[in-house]
Amino acid sequence: MALAEERLGLAQLLLPWYRDHGRHELPWRQTRDDYALWLAEVLLQQTQVRTALPYYGRFLSAFPSWQDLASAPLDAVLAQWSGLGYYARARNAHRAAQMVVQEHGGRFPPTMAAAMALPGVGRSTAAAVLASAYGQDQAILDANARRVLFRAAGLIGEPRSSTNDRKLWRIAEAETPAGAAHDYNQAIQDLGAVLCRAARPDCPNCPLQSRCRAAALPKRRELPREGDRSARPRRYATLLLARDDGGRVLLQRRPERGIWGGLWSLPSLDDEQILVDSSLRAQVLERYAAAVGLVLHEQSLGPVQRHTFSHFSLEYAVLHASLRVQAVADKGSPLLCWDLAAALQLGLPSPIRRLLEQLD
Ligand code: ADE
Repeated sequence: MALAEERLGLAQLLLPWYRDHGRHELPWRQTRDDYALWLAEVLLQQTQVRTALPYYGRFLSAFPSWQDLASAPLDAVLAQWSGLGYYARARNAHRAAQMVVQEHGGRFPPTMAAAMALPGVGRSTAAAVLASAYGQDQAILDANARRVLFRAAGLIGEPRSSTNDRKLWRIAEAETPAGAAHDYNQAIQDLGAVLCRAARPDCPNCPLQSRCRAAALPKRRELPREGDRSARPRRYATLLLARDDGGRVLLQRRPERGIWGGLWSLPSLDDEQILVDSSLRAQVLERYAAAVGLVLHEQSLGPVQRHTFSHFSLEYAVLHASLRVQAVADKGSPLLCWDLAAALQLGLPSPIRRLLEQLD
């Protein structure tokens, strides 16, 4: 058997540590309800616990059951998700709830195959819910578990390569103890978040130190490093903040694919040059206005600001303009004028929400 595939026996060290040091107060650890557990796992995909926590409480109050979520309008779901990012998750969650109600009798499907057929539910999410809600022996491999196991097993290379992915799933399955998958899965989450962090892991306090191959390396050379966040590519946009005489603001629903997918946002003029060139700006504004049938007058361009996404950063400036015709108010149009109060009820990206909150 290859070195990396020997059983490491992590559970016997991890479970006592979890009993004493685990984050037992996390609200999704107080329930075995399949809906609440699925919701937590979806919120926690690509999102840290402290960010997801307030959303979890608010979302559960707004949509306490599969039925409530399934029958809610998508805009209401997106509004609750507003600010959390990765909005495809919200649309997938909404569709998944509809499938659970229509096809699974209002219960999270109890097999891996059926669970993974739900939109937004991958292998690790399915396993986490089945282990926690139904006590099944299912191994997870989310970002935390992946990092802990990669290090403990002393793997090298890209943690996400297909070879390492296969190895990691085999290790995850071998290490997950029969009859205690729920606790073990929570434990590995906590160890990854609290001690076996991506940067500066706290090896001296780690209960797995004696079994960890990476900790034994000189200077722990082989610890995988996080991508360099300062090296994110940049994108540029000019956001059009156009208001009519009544102070109503022009918003556009974003296409489902891409950043802020499905949310309402300011119309975006994605041209790098307009940030610096005022004559071009006037032309672009004119072209845009003609294309959508509006009369716009530029007033001012705000300072360049930056919003950071996981894979790039967006440099943007807000172009303030007045809107001189009664704007399109066709209900089917993705471009609509909204009263400020109504706009703030929509699913908005967080920088746009902050901007609108400052208007009077
Ligand atoms: N990340 C993903 N699932 C989690 C859980 N159940 N607890 C803490 N962090 C998590």
